[in-house]
Amino acid sequence: MTVVLVTEIDGLVLRELLREDLEAFTALVERNRAHLPEQWEATATPNELAAYFDEPWDDNLRLGIRLAGELIGRVDLNPIAPPNHVLGYWLDVDHRGRGYATAACRSVVEHARRHLDAAEIYAGVTHGNDRSVAVLDRLGFEKVDTLDTYDRYRLVLS
Ligand SMILES: CC(C)(COP(=O)(O)OP(=O)(O)OC[C@H]1O[C@@H](n2cnc3c(N)ncnc32)[C@H](O)[C@@H]1OP(=O)(O)O)[C@@H](O)C(=O)NCCC(=O)NCCS
Repeated sequence: MTVVLVTEIDGLVLRELLREDLEAFTALVERNRAHLPEQWEATATPNELAAYFDEPWDDNLRLGIRLAGELIGRVDLNPIAPPNHVLGYWLDVDHRGRGYATAACRSVVEHARRHLDAAEIYAGVTHGNDRSVAVLDRLGFEKVDTLDTYDRYRLVLS
């Protein structure tokens, strides 16, 4: 069954990304290439995106962030070592600054807590990505490790 999650913001929902979303997703990526320095999609060709949608190489829960039906971003939950997961997220550049990423990630964390029996959620943030750190701060993550290029954050679910 397709996963759909509501958020605390009216009209903002998350819905599992499916093959039928490829066209909208590709258009979203095209608009955002310059604004996604760390995401693999930023350098993926349309054919590579299509191949990924046909046969994803990850086991992530892949969710599209939708505002009034329009695809505006993505949140992933990677079951890297269940019950531990890794959270990833990005938002369309024109929709930043309104709390959408925070609300979307909060719903995903809640889903992980309630339905996936997740114990810990991790996120890696490249040094200097302050907006991403701010999202994690708002969700209660704490920095647990500093590596060469990024910091590791963790949220322990109770
Ligand atoms: C990381 C990223 C998703 C953060 O986006 P964002 O828009 O800053 O985050 P949010 O959508 O949660 O919005 C937060 C902003 O909305 C404001 N806001 C308004 N209403 C809000 C609400 N109800 N809740 C939280 N914040 C709210 C906050 O004050 C904040 O404003 P500020 O930027 O002026 O401080 C975005 O910068 C991005 O996609 N970056 C590229 C990809 C990336 O780096 N991903 C993370 C990899 S680790």
